[in-house]
Amino acid sequence: MTISSALPVNETELLALRERFESYGQGHVFKFFQELEVEGQIALLKQLMEVDVERVNQIYRKAIEGAESSVLNQDTTFEPLPENVFESVLESSPQKIREWETIGLTQIAQGKVAVILMAGGQGTRLGSSAPKGCYDINLPSKKTLFQLQAERILRVQEIARQYTTAGQLDTCVIPWYIMVSGPTHAPTLDYFKKNNFFGLKEENVIFFEQGVLPCLTMDGKIILEAKDKVAMAPDGNGGIYAAVQNKGVIDSLKKRGILYSHCYCVDNCLARVADPVFIGYSVSKGTDCGVKVVSKSAPEEPVGVVCVRDGKYGVVEYSEISQEVSEKRQEDGSLQLRAANIANHFFSTEFLERVPSFASQLEYHIAKKKIKFVDEQGETVTPKSNSGMKLECFVFDVFPYAHHFSVLEVDRKDEFSPLKNAPGTGADCPETSRRDIVAQHVRFVEAAGGKVVHDGDFESLQFELSSWVSYAGEGLADVVAGKTIHTPAVIETKADLIRLAI
Ligand code: UTP
Repeated sequence: MTISSALPVNETELLALRERFESYGQGHVFKFFQELEVEGQIALLKQLMEVDVERVNQIYRKAIEGAESSVLNQDTTFEPLPENVFESVLESSPQKIREWETIGLTQIAQGKVAVILMAGGQGTRLGSSAPKGCYDINLPSKKTLFQLQAERILRVQEIARQYTTAGQLDTCVIPWYIMVSGPTHAPTLDYFKKNNFFGLKEENVIFFEQGVLPCLTMDGKIILEAKDKVAMAPDGNGGIYAAVQNKGVIDSLKKRGILYSHCYCVDNCLARVADPVFIGYSVSKGTDCGVKVVSKSAPEEPVGVVCVRDGKYGVVEYSEISQEVSEKRQEDGSLQLRAANIANHFFSTEFLERVPSFASQLEYHIAKKKIKFVDEQGETVTPKSNSGMKLECFVFDVFPYAHHFSVLEVDRKDEFSPLKNAPGTGADCPETSRRDIVAQHVRFVEAAGGKVVHDGDFESLQFELSSWVSYAGEGLADVVAGKTIHTPAVIETKADLIRLAI
């Protein structure tokens, strides 16, 4: 076989690569190689040289074994979280919450806290071609999820400045580490550049890319999406642990003196980014790995629940438990397994650094998806039903390895409204995101003794309160108490609030 000198390998190396894939039962990825133009051959080879085919096969086998054993094992036990690792802001006194908040703000003021955002998902259900964070949920201000989150960070930095001591003003910075993936990297970076990082300093917004894995058929064969392209997908939000190691994030955290990170998902429009209460709670408990949860709304709600699973902290998926177990209640009537996981975490830097010591034991999970593939003739087919699987790690898979695990329950209506589905689907979609933010802003004003004139239709109400003015309802009472705000009102600054509250 004569090959082009433009290829990234010579003839012997090409043969070796081919034999390697063949010996692991994946030789079909070369099926169309001979008929490709040189550009196509180069593209395919570049991808294949990055694939550790032995590891892919191992991950597949382990994922299949894991899936089978979770179905087969009827003896797995699921118990509620013990009291000593669980607190709820809904049941805690205002003094206690204030105490946690003060601890959190003090740590932030000392420059010991970072935020890590998981934004590597492809958002297939939402159906937008842009990264989810760039999505406009039709707020009156037209702010996107990324902008909302950036402004929350800026506001918390500002609040924390009051907790600095002389000479500490410069340390009051919350660096924002944003995990992206192959598909979301370039558009996310471009978006931030185009928007001047929303007022944050560019040096404090750090992008890092998570790993990818080939997509597989149900029987473990690597899928070609085109004759010259392997179907690849990000390795799940649990890819964060390998990525923080491999992409210099841990080094950067240590260089900056960061001890704690708040880690959350891009698609929760109510995410309290850098939440001082959660950070303070976690620090006060000496936590190395912690999680925020909300109360499960009903036994049949299809969410994962944080619990003690076979004696270890973990998450049980709704599909894994019987109706009887999901309906069990405590003496006070609340569900025994109620701590719904919202993928919102606290990590100490020490914990993130320790993950490699147990990483080989972490599982990969199978996510069946509609994955494009080439047919026998080499034509790309867009399937209508699941055609293969992505292999993903989950961010919560590390819970069993925590030395000091803790859980904080928060109010769902204030902290959790995920954007998952396409417009018009009626649940976890752009309309519900907008509704939940606007309703919260109205509640903030009402709790501060003011009134917003509205008819209860928050999907269309033209009212919004920027994080610049209030992050979690603070700082409003002195202006709005006893006053009324007529809509439309888009309040961007305290001056707007003073003008519009009459
Ligand atoms: P989801 O599991 O809901 O996935 O991600 P998704 O990509 O947003 O949406 P679908 O399933 O394709 O419709 C939950 C969070 O985890 C992040 C997402 O960006 C989101 O913040 N994530 C997911 C990653 O960072 N990397 C991944 O590989 C997967």
